[in-house]
Amino acid sequence: MGYGGAQGNPTRPRRLVVVGSGIAGLYAALLAADAEGGAAAEVVLLSKGQLEHSNTFYAQGGVSAVLEPGEAAPGDSVEAHVADTLAAGAGLNNTEAVRILCTEAARDIAGLRRYGVTFDADAQGDTALGLEAAHSAPRILHAGGDATGARIARGLIAAVLERAVSGRLRLETGAFVTELTTADGRVTGVEYLQNGERKSLPADGVLLATGGAGRVFARTSNPSVATADGLALAWRAGAAVGDLEFFQFHPTTMAMHEVAGGPPPLLVSEAVRGEGAVLLDADGYRFMPDHHPDAELAPRDVVSRSIALHLARTGAPADSPVFLDARGIEASRGPGFLARRFPTINAATGAAGYDWTAEPLPVSPAAHYWMGGVSTDLGGRTSVPGLYAAGEVACTGAQGANRLASNSLLEGLVFGRRAVESFLGAEPSHDSTAPRAASAAGGLTLTHASAALSRDVIGREGSATEPEGVVTSWSEAGVFSREALGRLMTGAAGVLRTGPDLDAAAAQLALWAGSIDSVEASCPREFEDRNLLLAARLLVAAARKRTVSVGAHYRADTDHASAPTHSMQRISS
Ligand code: SIN
Repeated sequence: MGYGGAQGNPTRPRRLVVVGSGIAGLYAALLAADAEGGAAAEVVLLSKGQLEHSNTFYAQGGVSAVLEPGEAAPGDSVEAHVADTLAAGAGLNNTEAVRILCTEAARDIAGLRRYGVTFDADAQGDTALGLEAAHSAPRILHAGGDATGARIARGLIAAVLERAVSGRLRLETGAFVTELTTADGRVTGVEYLQNGERKSLPADGVLLATGGAGRVFARTSNPSVATADGLALAWRAGAAVGDLEFFQFHPTTMAMHEVAGGPPPLLVSEAVRGEGAVLLDADGYRFMPDHHPDAELAPRDVVSRSIALHLARTGAPADSPVFLDARGIEASRGPGFLARRFPTINAATGAAGYDWTAEPLPVSPAAHYWMGGVSTDLGGRTSVPGLYAAGEVACTGAQGANRLASNSLLEGLVFGRRAVESFLGAEPSHDSTAPRAASAAGGLTLTHASAALSRDVIGREGSATEPEGVVTSWSEAGVFSREALGRLMTGAAGVLRTGPDLDAAAAQLALWAGSIDSVEASCPREFEDRNLLLAARLLVAAARKRTVSVGAHYRADTDHASAPTHSMQRISS
């Protein structure tokens, strides 16, 4: 039985609760609030922090899209975008999801523009198109140079606030969702904490748009809100999840003194390499051509892995920086180009004491984007009726084993809209290959080529299905802390992985789960800890199942072609 009009009270509009305020949540909430006629819905947008607290806000590079002829780069095509997405994803993508992503991109760029978002123009006044790694043509739209995510978020937030004031949408900030309520196998609403008070909100549909989980790792480009909340909520409600072994590390985040749990390190956009920056080691050697014919413009997983393998081969500590040299860009494009094209990076590097027009920047890979997530069909439906997911928290299969640069904001847009359309009962119609049926059998169901895990891969209460742990420095970690979790996950499930390391990590995670899950959480921080730990356990379980290297999942022990000659080294602190 639904809460609202369609299945419950026929005089009341159906209620959609959207959880999360990144691009997928904001855009979906707006579309649902603006739906007219019979499709009109009551929309409630819940955000655990302020609306600006999202991964979207930090996105620099942009949104990839092949626009209409005339606006697209000469010779570029949707087919080329599809091919690039599949190649970066190591072919493990859901091809139908990729086709939709690339075909419907122009439609949702137009949707963003309707909400007041403007993109940068070139000297002729045409939409400026950037090139990023593994794209065969310039097709990245950007705003404010390298402030694309912030510009998009601000535009959408302004539109959301306008609708909140006029009563078309209800907005709750500081609202931490602790549980999805269910009845008869259907999601019926949410419970949340706000100002220390427990509240509940019935709904006909709940759309999870909670973003990613970078805080599972020690170094991440993600802000502190990226704690796997949506994945954990969905898993506990019985939803299928998939592709969890695939976590992308961005190769170039500034390596500077960092405070554990503090702000993320500065991301130096892929677009900087798109403009011609190269990577050097501490001896000034340009190592990427040794690893891939496209060198610095190879897919992101390749570049991050090549950095790790190069450091291991040269015997340098695993957490040593390499150096991003953008001096050639300034030399070839003229003085002031870097500051104009990348104002955010220019200001931040300057504030950190670097003049990147004159010296290379120290950079290191950092956890950036989870390709895996809550399995959905092409209409954003999860395996649990009434529950939808879109954006990074979801796994449509569009990103495969490694996401193509600037396809993430795009996925949030396209599949956020499609989830709303599903909820409102408009196209697309239900996809019969959705994970729903198989999930009823209790399995961890996958919509595409991911390793299948059964649902009992970890117990809900932290049962120890994991093997006896191999003794490592992590088991000296003692009690659970976010820092200890980050160290363990970076060492065992980061860019380079081995079977024994993953086994040891699984054992340590089960021990931690046994202790912290037995105590009831009472504040957002404690709920987040449990969510992070659950996400880590699911990721490691998926990674243990996949014994060969593909995409962002690299098994250094079984991949002899490019295994490091030195034994793997762990992050030291
Ligand atoms: C970047 O600007 O390098 C990040 C954009 C993305 O994650 O696609």
